Amino acid sequence: MSTLLHAATVVRGFAYAPYSKFRVGAAIRTPSGTVHIGCNVENAAYPQGTCAEGGAISAMIAAGETEIEEILIIADCPTPVPPCGGCRQKIAEFASTDAKVTMCTTDGKSMTMTVADLLPGSFDATFMDLP
Ligand code: THU
Repeated sequence: MSTLLHAATVVRGFAYAPYSKFRVGAAIRTPSGTVHIGCNVENAAYPQGTCAEGGAISAMIAAGETEIEEILIIADCPTPVPPCGGCRQKIAEFASTDAKVTMCTTDGKSMTMTVADLLPGSFDATFMDLP
């Protein structure tokens, strides 16, 4: 089992998903080799819940890293689950267009796509007139 698959599987075990019962784990590897993990955390006020990918990105930023080289997501589903639209945008903020996004199921299936596959023509900072 790869490091990222192991890390995402372990953190998925801590997911807090009492409402959807859909537990998700995510693990990021940065170019320097560090690994950062996150799980979904739901809330009784449903929109306040956060996705596994967002949690892993927050952990990466809190650790002083800013680049996603690869991200792996795991859920218990018949087919690999692609990240939601919001998470695609969040991943794109910190990844190059050719960074790998691997989606896994708990029964061993997987599918790998790039950030550009998942979010072609993404909105980014170049569209804004930033100093
Ligand atoms: N979820 C994630 O954590 N990542 C995704 O990419 C899709 C959805 C979570 C959010 C919510 O807690 C549950 O899965 C059901 O939508």
